[in-house]
Amino acid sequence: MSAMSHGHTGESNREGPLVAADVADAFTLPSHWYTQADIFQAERERVFGASWQLVAHAAALANPGDYVTMNLVGEPLLLVRGDDGLLRAFYNVCRHRAGPVALGSGCRRGFQCAYHGWTYGLDGRLRQAREIEGTGHFEPEAFGLVPVAVAVWGPLVFVNLDPAAPPLEAVMAPIGQEMRAAGFDLARVVPRVRRDYELQCNWKVYVDNYLEGYHIPIVHPGLFRELDYARYQVEPRGHYSKQFSPTRSAGTGAAHSGYGRYDAGTEALYYWIWPNLMLNIYPDNVSTNVILPMGVDRTLTIFEWFFQPGTDEAAVRDTVAFSDEVQQEDIVICEHVARGLQSASYDRGRFVAARENGVHHFHRLMAATLSAER
Ligand code: FES
Ligand SMILES: [Fe+2]
Repeated sequence: MSAMSHGHTGESNREGPLVAADVADAFTLPSHWYTQADIFQAERERVFGASWQLVAHAAALANPGDYVTMNLVGEPLLLVRGDDGLLRAFYNVCRHRAGPVALGSGCRRGFQCAYHGWTYGLDGRLRQAREIEGTGHFEPEAFGLVPVAVAVWGPLVFVNLDPAAPPLEAVMAPIGQEMRAAGFDLARVVPRVRRDYELQCNWKVYVDNYLEGYHIPIVHPGLFRELDYARYQVEPRGHYSKQFSPTRSAGTGAAHSGYGRYDAGTEALYYWIWPNLMLNIYPDNVSTNVILPMGVDRTLTIFEWFFQPGTDEAAVRDTVAFSDEVQQEDIVICEHVARGLQSASYDRGRFVAARENGVHHFHRLMAATLSAER
């Protein structure tokens, strides 16, 4: 049974796809997609287990032995730069009885499991299993760490749990070309600030919210004053979408958001990349937002800012403060929406065709991903 055949899906779905191809005809995803554990399990496997996920900075893995560990939607992972200079990723799961072979981050010559001390090389090979001599037919070469696909894009390191995934470059190349054409150089910026926010909502509530500017006049009055709302556009592409939000005028009240701090006509680029990454690109900084489900009704958003080398501390602080104000407004509304989606009164809504084409695009991708044959 496919995940989307669970439960009732609303009156628009007697025939045809769950989310109609034309935004003007479509209904939003059913509310149980935001609340039910079986959908979340399907997402772990088919969405987060089969897409490129931003997990680290290349700067943290520059030298042989540099390693970082993380938890990716329930999967413990380990990234390490080998003696041969190659960057590798593994499940951080010992082949003995599933202990962690590395904790935290740092620089090491090899790894030792925290449980019974089996040791592994930086290349994942099992080096030593203590007191294994009496165990029959034990083949150390078959007990190396299980590898995971890893790739680097500018200063960002991604992993993909699906060994058959298309290369990261295929996903990111069109975005990189647009960025270079607009004069942004991702290779030059360095990480400066990280902020984590935890929300009481399903991860898709936050993604939906990012993908439309329709709520800006209501939820973000300060931001609204800075933007040329009439010209705000969302352009869905294959597995990403691009938003364009020109500023309204030069030099007016810069106090409300990062969006308004540039001269009129300055082009900022905002990308959403399937399923949970946002790239916000300004002339002097780039920020990433990673949206990670911690459960069906809990979400961690990780914001990180990259600046040109030498950017002074005050400019960094201003940018982060502007963003934080908008984020706090989004958190409040997303948590209300999460409660609304649990109401017995609500199942599916309609899209405002002129403004919510990006949300529609995301819902189409979700429906296709969870309904495809396994
Ligand atoms: S679980 Fe790793 S050595 Fe036992
Ligand atoms: Fe918002």
